[in-house]
Amino acid sequence: MNQLSASVVKKLMRSAKSVMKNAHVPYSHFRVGAAILLTNGKIFAGCNVENASYGMTNCAERTAIFSAVAQMGPKIEIRAVAVTNDQGVPCSPCGACRQVIYEFGPDATIYFQGARGPKQSHITELLPEGFRLQ
Ligand code: THU
Repeated sequence: MNQLSASVVKKLMRSAKSVMKNAHVPYSHFRVGAAILLTNGKIFAGCNVENASYGMTNCAERTAIFSAVAQMGPKIEIRAVAVTNDQGVPCSPCGACRQVIYEFGPDATIYFQGARGPKQSHITELLPEGFRLQ
């Protein structure tokens, strides 16, 4: 997959940052924003939505992806995902989100804050041997 231009990555990050303000985080107080770029050029954003039953929490990445499917239907292809948080700490997508990204973006690039600064990884680096039903 071709590299994204710096300006597109910036735009995706800006979109992820902007949606963080809508996060529902009364339990962790940790706001996360994610934005996905589809191969058709559209961008969708999502925030984390927590629940009193903690396990029902939806991460920002999955909110963005489910929102894209709700708007565009299931034939979307994710080209890139940007993730950010309000505490400036390392935050790559959790295991569950990696599997959901893989479903719609087996060739996606993920932009996030790593332990040593901004990082980009292919989804298959983050999720080797992702699961698929054929
Ligand atoms: N969270 C995300 O939304 N995305 C991630 O990549 C990591 C974790 C959320 C879930 C929960 O609301 C909070 O961060 C603390 O785990």
